[in-house]
Amino acid sequence: MNPLANDLSGSTPHALPTLGVVLVAAGRGERLGAGTPKAFVELHGRALLEFGVGVVTSLPHLGHLVVVAPESHAAIALDIVEQVLPEGSPWEVSVVPGGRERHESVRFGLEALPESVETVLVHDAARPFASAELFERVIAEVRRTGDAVVPALPVVDTIKRVDADGIVHETVDRAPLVAVQTPQGFARETLAAAHSTAQLQHEAGLPTDDAEVVQRAGAQVRTVPGEQRAHKLTAPADLAILEHFLTANLLGLESEA
Ligand code: C5P
Repeated sequence: MNPLANDLSGSTPHALPTLGVVLVAAGRGERLGAGTPKAFVELHGRALLEFGVGVVTSLPHLGHLVVVAPESHAAIALDIVEQVLPEGSPWEVSVVPGGRERHESVRFGLEALPESVETVLVHDAARPFASAELFERVIAEVRRTGDAVVPALPVVDTIKRVDADGIVHETVDRAPLVAVQTPQGFARETLAAAHSTAQLQHEAGLPTDDAEVVQRAGAQVRTVPGEQRAHKLTAPADLAILEHFLTANLLGLESEA
């Protein structure tokens, strides 16, 4: 048993969760340069992780949420969960330490899910404002089709292929291109099997999302409409974008003033 695993169950003791969410929050956030792991950066006094735990545990499902946190921040992650988990919630929550790469963090999270879980969503804590509707859309499509499901947005910029010297060789047709987000959803068996046999020494490099992991293992991945508010914090400028969602009151959240 992992020493950091810690059940903060608010649910009835005999009901078994069939939905699992792995909330990956163990990145160091070096591109952001905030001096604190990205998921623990605050917006209006609330860590990004708080928003993610809040939306997941608001979903009306019998579920198990695994928060994957840096070992150094496990205690803070537990505090956040305790604060945010609604009383009488049907969600069980545990916190486990992350790995060096994102795919390792996801694997550790998957290993912490109870056997009863059949559908798994993997979500970046760095996307604090993904809506409950987006989670539900992904869950419904996984359950309807059995495929892996990713939220996707059309690409709006003109895309060019360049070489190492920055010389442009061509404009790429953007019509068939999309930008994908999280939460990404999977049949649990598909994702767990793909992660345990992951072809990580692939010529395309390390997988940067879970859809890529299952696709390398031969699974079909389909899209549902994504949303602007599921924007990811990567660089300092993204903080201003997330801040905008909060201050323009575009989220329908309570008490974010
Ligand atoms: O670095 P990137 O933006 O791709 O990270 C996406 C998400 O994956 C973040 O929420 C980050 O905390 C998480 N992550 C992780 N473990 C790592 C690297 C990233 O949980 N080793």
